[in-house]
This record gives sequence, C-alpha cells and structure tokens, in this order.
Amino acid sequence: MTFQLGAKKCAEYIKKHKSALVVSHIDADGLTSAAIMGKALERAGIEYETHFVKQLDTSALTGIADRNPELVVFTDLGSGMLDAINSLKINAVISDHHQPHGTHDHHLNPHLFGINGATEISGSGVTYTMVSSLGDNNDLADLAIVGAVGDLQHVKHGQLIGINRSVLEEGTRNGALRFEKDLLLFGKQTRPIFKLLQYSSDPYLPGITGSEDTSIEFLKKIGIRQHGEKWRRWIDLEANEKQQIVSALIQFCLTCGMQAFNIQRLVGEVYTLLREREGTEVRDASEYSTLLNATARYDHADIGLAVCMGDRGKRYDEAITLLNDHRKNLVEGLNLVKEKGTTKMENLQYFDSGNKIRETIVGIIAGMSTSFLDNKHLPIIAFADSDGGVKVSSRGNYDLIRRGLNLGVAIGEAAKSVGGAGGGHDIAAGAFIPREAKDEFLRALNSKIGEQIR
Ligand code: C5P
Ligand code: C5P
Ligand code: ZN
Repeated sequence: MTFQLGAKKCAEYIKKHKSALVVSHIDADGLTSAAIMGKALERAGIEYETHFVKQLDTSALTGIADRNPELVVFTDLGSGMLDAINSLKINAVISDHHQPHGTHDHHLNPHLFGINGATEISGSGVTYTMVSSLGDNNDLADLAIVGAVGDLQHVKHGQLIGINRSVLEEGTRNGALRFEKDLLLFGKQTRPIFKLLQYSSDPYLPGITGSEDTSIEFLKKIGIRQHGEKWRRWIDLEANEKQQIVSALIQFCLTCGMQAFNIQRLVGEVYTLLREREGTEVRDASEYSTLLNATARYDHADIGLAVCMGDRGKRYDEAITLLNDHRKNLVEGLNLVKEKGTTKMENLQYFDSGNKIRETIVGIIAGMSTSFLDNKHLPIIAFADSDGGVKVSSRGNYDLIRRGLNLGVAIGEAAKSVGGAGGGHDIAAGAFIPREAKDEFLRALNSKIGEQIR
C-alpha cells in the first residue's frame, strides 16, 4: 500500500460517521492539523468538536473515552499510544508523524511507509493528505506548510523536501503560496530590520544578538539608512540593500570564526502566504507558526485555531497580544540558559529550569539555545516543573543523527524505565517523568544515547 492509499482508506472510514471529536497537539503543527481536519469535516457535512492536549497520556485518553464520542480523529499525536487507544476501545482515526508504537487499523503515519516524519512531512501534511480524499481541500495547502515550518522541517536541507514539497507545489499552483531564497532571520514581515539582528538566536550573532545599539550600529556601518525616524522592515528594503546585509552578516560570522553549518543557516527557503495581507504575521509561514505557538502553548489553543480558521479580527488581535508575551518569555528563557549554562555528562548536557520556564516552551528554548552552547557534540536535555512531575524536552542535531542518535527512542525507553512516558522524533523528543526519578532518568538516558552513537 502507498501512503496516499493509506490516507484514502482513513478518509473513507471517517466518511462513515456523522460526528467526530478532533483531538490535537498544542503547537503550530497541532493547530494547523486540527484546522485542516475541521474545515474538511465541515465541508463533508460531519459535525465536529476540537480538543487540545499537552500530551496524550493515559489520563488524557481516559477523559476522551469518557466523552463517548462516535469517532475520535487524532491529529499530530496518537501514534505513541496506539495500544491504549485500542484497549480503551476508542473508535479512532490517527493522523500523525511521530515515531509509532503498536498497531491500529486506521492509522496514517509516514514512518510506516519509509517516509521521514521529521523532515518530509509533519502532522499537518499527513492530515492534508488524508483530507484530500475527503473532498476538494487543496486550498488548505498553506496551513499544511505553516505546520511543517512550525516543526522546523525545512531546517535540515534549508528547504522543504518530500511530501512537504509536493504540498508546497500544490499551494504554489493554486496561488496560495510562494517560495524563494531569503534571509532566515525572524520577523521579516513585521519588525524593523535592526530587531532581526537583535533577536537573532539561530545563528547567535556574538556581540549583536541581544543588543539594540550594536544591531543598529551594524546596519549604519554598511550604509543602511533609516527613513526619517523609522527603521524600515525587511520587506520594505530594495533588493540590493538586502543583498548587502546578507553579505555583511556572512562576513561578520566568518570573522567570528563561526562554523560553516551555522553560517549557512542565515539564508534558506522562506514561504509566503499570498492570500494574507503583506506586513502581517500570517503572511510568512515562520512568523505565522510562532504566532500559533504563542496561543496554544499558553492554554489558548482556541485563539490560535480561530486564526487558522480565518479570523483576522478580534481573535487575531488577541493572538498578537499573546505573541508579545511569548517573545518576552523566549528571551528571558534564553538568558536564563546563557547564565546558568548546562551540566555535562558523557553523552548529553542538561539544564533544569525549575519553575522559571514554562514546560510548554522549554523545548523551544532548548532548541534555540543550541546556537550559543559550546558542546555541539552533545544533545541538550531540558527539565521544567510540571504538575505532579517533571517535563523533559530534548533536541539533537543532524551530525549526531548521522552517528546514530534517535532521541525519540532513547527518551521513550529512559522515561519508561523510571515510570514515565515519552517519545517524539530522532531530532526532538520529550517526556513526563516522576520528580524523584530525574537522576535515574539522566543515567539511563546517558547510557542509551551512548549505545546509539557508539
Ligand atoms: O510535536 P511535534 O512533532 O509537532 O514537534 C516537533 C518538534 O521538533 C518541534 O518542537 C520542533 O521545534 C522540533 N524540531 C527541531 N529541529 C528540527 C526539526 C524539529 O527542534 N530540525
Ligand atoms: O515538548 P517538546 O517541544 O520538547 O516536544 C518535542 C517532541 O517530542 C514533540 O514532537 C512532541 O510531540 C514529542 N513529545 C512526546 N511525548 C511527550 C512530550 C513530547 O512525544 N511526553
Ligand atoms: Zn508535529
């Protein structure tokens, strides 16, 4: 069977129902997945409700089973809990891209077809493929791309590949999307250019990141001028000015002795949503996905979902307010990691943010902090306080993956060995463990990672 045929089989099963509960994950990929499924169900005349969870554990699943829904469609999660879904007798369709455990009759997951779920397709792409067989839903390609970019699936190759690429091409054909090579720094649609430098965390620009003054000085020195009182945005610049900034940044990084793979991340493919207004967060896939994370990761998935469903009024404004807080939290979190540093073990490094960083964003901060941490040969593990235990987040890099690292497997097994649960992808994974088990968990994880990369 092909992936597309698997998608069709699931779509046909969905069609047999009158109502469904869509259960999804609280991040950009989860929100776009839920929106794609929601729109498609609506168009197919199937009533639905949505429900978002931080993680799909046994207690979340029991709660869902208790609601006694006719059908549950899990999007961007579920593949790690197939046995529990079966044993709770939940009538379900699972549309996910995380590494699967167990089997299920209506389960669509790229890993079952030899497709990489961390680079070739995200939860939103899996869901988009599924609803392509549910009706005429190709106009949702832009949402699918926002989900893929939210999961950083374009990072490894500097562009989207695999099924993500096919979705992108469909979106380009129907006028929803455009892609081009451009500066990757965040905020090109909405922020004055010096802020792109000031807030650059990937790559981290020594002496510039974190400082408004040196960011402005850098631009002035190469002849980029303000217009009156105001700094222009990236999208307001002339092509030659953009080129000039990119060259100067590359030169700067080379002078700093930065490694080539870090410098390369300055430029890559960017994705523009052509149906959205220029100069707004939702015009750029990366800014859009951050806007969504700013809602769902702070218990406001309903706001992010409304934005995905097309609200550009009240709910959109609420999302922008949340975005400002989110940015502040990211900066504070990164500063904390910079100050505290990490503790090294043989095969990993870790930091424990206690209650200083929210468990729902500690993974994002761990990922961003790798650009300024010295020990690139060690994956980063982060802890944050959580209700009744500890949240674990981890991020690796492609060099380590080439050497055998699979964080999803290592974290899953280590968590299980101490009475917790977790999983994810080779490059990024997470878990929830009992508080008192932290040291034992670290020892188990250190040895598992050692076995993987030996
Ligand atoms: O839960 P989900 O699969 O949607 O999340 C994937 C996670 O993997 C994201 O948080 C993303 O930041 C992370 N990731 C990463 N580096 C990559 C690819 C994905 O940190 N190159
Ligand atoms: O929360 P964080 O961003 O660190 O999650 C990284 C990856 O691990 C995501 O793909 C997430 O879905 C997955 N994860 C998981 N089980 C958990 C926590 C995270 O599969 N308990
Ligand atoms: Zn995802």
